[in-house]
Amino acid sequence: MTAGRKIIMDFEVTPTSHTLADYRARRGYQVLERALAELRPEQVTKEVAASGILGHGGAAFPAGRKWGVIKLNDEQPHYLCANADEGEPGTFKDRWILENAPHLLIESMLISAYALQVRHAFVYIRGEFDLPYRRLQAAVDEAYAAGLLGERILGTDFSCDLFVYRGAGSYVCGEASALITSIEGKKGYPRNRPPRLTVRGLYQRPTVINNVETLSNVRAIVEMGGDAFKRIGTPKSPGTQLVSISGHVERPGVYEIEYGTPLAKFIYDECGGVLGGGKLKCIVPGGISTKVLTAADIEPLTYDHASLTAAGSGVGSGGMVVIAEGTCMVRLLQILLRFYHHESCGQCTPCREGMGWMHRVIDRIVAGQGRPGDIEQLIRISKANDGTTICGMGDAAGYATLGILAKYRDEFEYWIEHGRSKLQGRIEVAAHG
Ligand SMILES: Cc1cc2nc3c(=O)[nH]c(=O)nc-3n(C[C@H](O)[C@H](O)[C@H](O)COP(=O)(O)O)c2cc1C
Ligand code: SF4
Repeated sequence: MTAGRKIIMDFEVTPTSHTLADYRARRGYQVLERALAELRPEQVTKEVAASGILGHGGAAFPAGRKWGVIKLNDEQPHYLCANADEGEPGTFKDRWILENAPHLLIESMLISAYALQVRHAFVYIRGEFDLPYRRLQAAVDEAYAAGLLGERILGTDFSCDLFVYRGAGSYVCGEASALITSIEGKKGYPRNRPPRLTVRGLYQRPTVINNVETLSNVRAIVEMGGDAFKRIGTPKSPGTQLVSISGHVERPGVYEIEYGTPLAKFIYDECGGVLGGGKLKCIVPGGISTKVLTAADIEPLTYDHASLTAAGSGVGSGGMVVIAEGTCMVRLLQILLRFYHHESCGQCTPCREGMGWMHRVIDRIVAGQGRPGDIEQLIRISKANDGTTICGMGDAAGYATLGILAKYRDEFEYWIEHGRSKLQGRIEVAAHG
C-alpha cells in the first residue's frame, strides 16, 4: 500500500517473500555485490550523505552526518547496530520490514558495515517480537549458509558477522545508549552525552546506531545514487516514510508514503478515513511523543518533516493514530501518562518523580476528585521535564501532555468541575483502557 514512490514496499508480499530465494529473485544482494566490487567504503558513505536521508527512528538526524564521524582504518573495532526495538506506542512499521523483507535489512546492513568498516554488526530487537524475530533469525541463518555473512563475503576481503540480540521488553531500551548497555548485558539505562555514541558506544568503541527503516534504505541509495534518492520526496525530507496507521481508521496497516504527500488525502483516500464513516477529531502523527493535530490542523499539511514541524508536531517514529470525534482526551492522556510512568527507568529525578506525579494528577481528575489548579500543575511538570533529563523520554511525556492540553483544555476543565467526562453518554472512550 502506498502514496507515491515505493522504496521499501516495492514488491508483492506472499507467504515466501521473506525468504532468500524470493529476495534473490528480486535482485537481492546484487547491490552489495556491486558495492564490494566497485565502490570504496568512503564512496558508499558519500552516497548516503548525498541522499540527505534523515533517521527514521524519531529524531530525524541525518544519517550521513552520523556515519561521517566514524574513523576508518583506526585498527580498533567499531560497531553498527540496527535499532529494532520499536517500542513507541502506535508504531509497527519496522515490524513490517522484519517480517516481510528481512534480507533487505541484512543486505543494507552489510553495505553499511562495509562503508563503516565494521566487522561485527547487531540487530537489537524487542523481546515481544516473535514472528519478526523468527523471520530475521531465519534470514540471518540463510545468509550465513549462502556465504553472505561471515568470513570473506562473496569471495572478497570483506568479512562481517551479524548478531540478533533480543531485548526484554523495555520502552527505554529503544533509546540508543540504553540499547547499547542492554547489549553489553547490563541494565538498559540511557547515559549522558557527550561522549556521543559514534565516539564511545558499544564496548566503549565508536558505534553507529540507526533505525531499521533508515538502514533498509541504504540499498536503494547505493543502487540509484544519493543524488537520485534526494530527488524523491521533498528537498528537506528526501525519500519515503513507512507509516503504521491504527486507531479509529477504516483501513489500518503499514503504508509507504513519499514525503510531500497531502496528509488529509492519505488519511481519507488511502486509508479510508474514520472507522464506520465517523468524523475525525485528531491524529497522533508520529508516535505518542508527537503532539496531536486536529482535523482542521491537518487540512493544509503535507506529510514531511518541515510541514509537520511547522504545525508544532513531527513525523516522529511514523506511528500514526487516528482518533474519532467522541473520544475523550482526558482518558486518552490518562492512558499515555500511565505508560510513561510505567516505563520511566527512574534515573533522573524530573522523569522518575514527574511521571508518577502527572499520573496521580490525571488519575484523580478521572476519579472525579480533580482540583482547580490541576491543569496548571500538569503544564508545570511537563515544562520542568523539558531538557532536564538524560534521555528524551522526560521531554516526550511533556510534549504529549502539553499538546493535548493546548487543544482540548475544555475537556479537562469540564471533568474537574463536574467530576465526569464532557463527552459522557455519547462516547466510545479512547481505545484500550
Ligand atoms: C525513550 C526512547 C525510545 C526510543 N525508541 C526507539 C525505537 O524503538 N526505535 C528507534 O529506532 N529509535 C528509538 N529511539 C531513538 C533512538 O535513541 C535513536 O535516535 C535512533 O535509533 C537512531 O536511529 P536513526 O537516526 O536512524 O533514527 C528512542 C528514543 C527514546 C528517547
Ligand atoms: S528521562 Fe526517564 S527514562 Fe530517560 S534516563 Fe531519565 S529517568 Fe530514565
